[in-house]
Amino acid sequence: MAFDLLVKNGTLPDGQKADIAISDGRIDAVDVGITADAAEVIDATGRLVTAPFVDAHFHMDATQSYGTPRVNRSGTLLEGIALWGDLKQVQTRDDIIARALDYCRQAVGKGILAIRSHVDVTDANFRTVDALLEVRDLVRDVLDLQLVAFPQDGWYRAEGAEASVVRALDAGVDVVGGIPHFERTMADGTAAVRAACELAAERGLMVDLHCDESDDPLSRHIETLAAETIRCGLQGRTTGSHLTSMHSMDNYYVAKLLPLIAEAQVSAIPNPLINITLQGRMDSYPKRRGMTRVPELLAAGVTVAFGQDCVRDPWYPLGSGDMLDVAHMGLHVAHMTAPDDMRVAFGMVTEKPAQIMGIDFGLEPGKRGSLVVLDASDPIDALRLRPARLTVVSNGRVVSRTEPAKTDLSVAF
Ligand code: FE2
Repeated sequence: MAFDLLVKNGTLPDGQKADIAISDGRIDAVDVGITADAAEVIDATGRLVTAPFVDAHFHMDATQSYGTPRVNRSGTLLEGIALWGDLKQVQTRDDIIARALDYCRQAVGKGILAIRSHVDVTDANFRTVDALLEVRDLVRDVLDLQLVAFPQDGWYRAEGAEASVVRALDAGVDVVGGIPHFERTMADGTAAVRAACELAAERGLMVDLHCDESDDPLSRHIETLAAETIRCGLQGRTTGSHLTSMHSMDNYYVAKLLPLIAEAQVSAIPNPLINITLQGRMDSYPKRRGMTRVPELLAAGVTVAFGQDCVRDPWYPLGSGDMLDVAHMGLHVAHMTAPDDMRVAFGMVTEKPAQIMGIDFGLEPGKRGSLVVLDASDPIDALRLRPARLTVVSNGRVVSRTEPAKTDLSVAF
C-alpha cells in the first residue's frame, strides 16, 4: 500500500516514537516502523510531531490594524473598544480581508490550522461579517476558521445588536457570542446571557461569550452562563472566554462556582497575553495578574484552552500568531511550571481548543491528516524555545516549511 505522506520516526507529545501515515487527507496509521511507500516522506527523527496548534479565541476583523487611526495610550480594554469603534467607521471590506489573509499566512507558518474568531456584528455596514465570511471560504482548504457573532458594543447596549447577531447567523456565522459585562447593568448582562443561550438552543449552535472580562469580583455572568447552559440543554456546547473576574472573586464563592461550571460542561478560554496586559490597570500595588483560575478550573474537570485574542490591534501592540508564546505566558501566570503542568499547557494550545471547536484533529488513525513537525525534542522544549515549525501539514498536504534557526558564533571560549 502506498501512502500520500509518511512522517518517519517523530516524537509524539506523550514521548512515544512513531511513524504517521496519511492518505486522502486522513491519518491512516500511527505505528513504529511503517515500511510501505509514500509519495512524500518527511524524516522527523529527534523532533516533536504534534497535532496542529489551534487558537480558539481571536479577533480576525481587528488584527494587523495597530496604530490605525491611533494607538491605545491607556492600555485598557475600554480605550481599545473606543478605538475599535473609530476604526470600524473607516475601514473597508477589502482592508479587513487583506489584513486577515496576511494574518492567516503568518498563523499557518506557525502551525495554527484552526481559529475561532469573534466578528463584530455591530458594524452598521456589516463589512466585518461579509469580509470574514469571504476569508473563511478563501482559507478553507488549509485553515478552519470558525466565526462567532459578537456584538462588541453590547447585546442590549447597542441599538439593533440583537437583530445583527441573528442576521450574522442567518448569513452563515457559526457560533453565538456576547459580552454581558459590557451591558449597562448586571440585569441586562444576565438577560443577554439568557438570550444568547436561547438563540443557540433554537438553532442548534454553540455559544462563546466574552464573559466577565473585568477586575470586578462581583461580575458573575459565568454563573448565569452555567445555569442557562443546563436550563437550555447546551452542555458541552458553551464557552466562557476570559473569566478574568474569577481572579478577584472571593474564595468561598469560587468554591461553589467551579462545580457548577464543571456540571454544565462549560469550557473556559483564558487569554494570558491579553489578560495580563489589560487587567489590573486601575490597581496600585500589588497589581492583579487578571488571568482566571486555570489550575483550579482544570482540577474541577473543566476543559480549558489558552487563546491568543489579539495580534497588533486596538487592544495589543504585539503578538505573532505563535500559540507557544501564548502557552509560555499562560504557564508563567498560572504557576504551571511543574513538568506535568507544562505538558498540560501544551495541550491547551493543541488538543483542548480543537475539542472546544469540535474539530477532529489528533495523532490517531481516522483523524484529519494535519500535524506540525517542530525543531524541538518534546513539548517542554517547544515551550522553552518556541522554535521553528519545520513542516506544517494540513489535510495531508504540506502547506508550510521553515528552516531551523542557526547561529554561528564568531568567538571562542
Ligand atoms: Fe476577545
